[in-house]
Amino acid sequence: MSTVRIWDLPTRLFHWLFAAACVTAWVSGDEPRYTDLHLFAGYLALGLVLFRLVWGVMGGRYARFSQFVRGPAVVLSHLRHLFERERPHEPGHNPAGAVAIVLMLGLVFALGVTGLVVLGGEEGFGPLAGFFTVAQGVTLHGWHEWLGWALLIVVLLHLVGVALESVLQRRNLPRSMVSGTAPANKDEAEPHNAAATAVVLLLVVSGFAVSWFYPYLQEDKEDPYHPFVAGDLKRNPVWQEACSECHMAYHPSLLPDRSWQRMLDEQADHFGEDLFLLPETVAALRRFAAESAAGQVERELSWRTLHSLSAGQTPLRITDTPYWKSVHREIDAGTWKRPAVNGEFNCAACHQDAEQGGFMNGAMRIPE
Ligand code: HEC
Ligand code: HEC
Repeated sequence: MSTVRIWDLPTRLFHWLFAAACVTAWVSGDEPRYTDLHLFAGYLALGLVLFRLVWGVMGGRYARFSQFVRGPAVVLSHLRHLFERERPHEPGHNPAGAVAIVLMLGLVFALGVTGLVVLGGEEGFGPLAGFFTVAQGVTLHGWHEWLGWALLIVVLLHLVGVALESVLQRRNLPRSMVSGTAPANKDEAEPHNAAATAVVLLLVVSGFAVSWFYPYLQEDKEDPYHPFVAGDLKRNPVWQEACSECHMAYHPSLLPDRSWQRMLDEQADHFGEDLFLLPETVAALRRFAAESAAGQVERELSWRTLHSLSAGQTPLRITDTPYWKSVHREIDAGTWKRPAVNGEFNCAACHQDAEQGGFMNGAMRIPE
């Protein structure tokens, strides 16, 4: 046997880009301020799956599904004979590796699709915005996380398999995926490197990366770029004027209507202050609250706030709702006392889109 080419260039490029996209999506998934990076990695992974499906039909010899996807009997027989000295020589993917590949492609596809539903339903962004409710987005968010764990397990099994095969066969499989070559007979070689396809793939991926991150290159300290700022929340000039004198004007979607109506009933004793509002002002404020309160608008934070309250609860403070407490539970007491923060009610200190009522993940920075 000699060293011959097994993996064409697009297959290798796909492999490492796909691995990088999955790792990036995994580590950025839980960190609200890296949502943009998470989405970039998710779109990239989804696009790569689609590419791989095409390449699995039209690609090189060992990239084709028809070459390496085998039935359960072959997979079981492969595993049963795993530790035997004399095994059939397999230059491409082995039957167990093929199972991992199919599972990874399927799981990442499902992660991409559920991710788009979460983005559209919960945040109102992306190609599926408007097609799903917040409630549906929240449900799929749970599935999305389970799919992520399932993918982690398959990836770990894949890594164990690669390590085991490399030792058992005394063949460095990861290095083959970089160089493309492996020990095999001359007639088993992959004849085409398909470099042109690889260049196109690389150009499309870099073009996507540049267009995605371009706004960050232009941001400055005064005007940081926030990709997910809520755009079209209804505002009201009467509300804005009456409620922004002592603190920022909280958008009505932050509390249920019953809270706002109670607050306006008690306007003469608003946390110790008399608001001295005229009856017609109160009437206008009641109307705006009634149409924009949590429950009236399709927003994740409204939905979650409402669902964290029992029917009998009518909190006057946003900071008293179980949802608010749960998303801020990791912030310690010292942070709230920082001069730049100045208390829990001062949302705009950390949420740079609070004045617009946004509270989107990408616009959150805790000041030092
Ligand atoms: C005269 C000053 C003043 C005006 C005007 C005012 N507020 Fe307040 N508001 C306060 C004070 C003081 C607090 C309590 C802040 C604290 O100590 O936490 C408060 C707290 C709140 C809170 C609770 C914030 C939290 O901790 O979750 C809400 C909600 C609120 N105000 C809504 C309104 C609305 C709606 C209007 C307009 C109708 C309004 N406020 C106008 C003084 C004012
Ligand atoms: C000290 C900074 C700070 C202040 C002040 C603050 N928050 Fe937050 N908020 C955070 C952080 C940090 C998170 C993200 C928590 C996480 O998920 O990791 C967050 C998350 C949220 C979220 C969830 C966003 C999402 O989509 O996951 C909402 C809604 C929210 N805050 C509303 C408010 C409101 C309303 C106020 C004012 C009454 C407020 N916050 C005041 C730091 C702050």
